[in-house]
Amino acid sequence: MSFYREKILDHYSNPRNAGVLQDADCAHHLDNPLCGDAIDVFVKLRDNKIVDIAFQAGGCAISIAAMSMLSEKVKGMSRDAVLKLSEDDIIALLGIPLTMSRIKCGTLGLNALQSAIQKYDKQRTTKNSRS
Ligand code: FES
Repeated sequence: MSFYREKILDHYSNPRNAGVLQDADCAHHLDNPLCGDAIDVFVKLRDNKIVDIAFQAGGCAISIAAMSMLSEKVKGMSRDAVLKLSEDDIIALLGIPLTMSRIKCGTLGLNALQSAIQKYDKQRTTKNSRS
């Protein structure tokens, strides 16, 4: 088995940052309509940086491993840098090429994370425009 496949299996069977953040600043639920798998991402931000992240997922090995690796990568990153991450970054994290259908699996967590941050930005903008 290749190093990358072993790494994917390790993250799948022992996902890092799995769980719920009770004091999250933002969260987002996303599912993959092709298979019905779903992911919930919880994020805590301070000074525009990701200070904590957690997720709950019911999905395939690729989606869970990608989210687990991503959760390790984004801790300490700025929200702007996280919003710029793309499917190429997920492929680089996983270390294996993905077919078109597997790209949906690999980017499920990234899309949920970016949506959570965008939701947070929108709430803050609305709050600021009211005050
Ligand atoms: Fe459902 Fe991969 S098969 S997310």
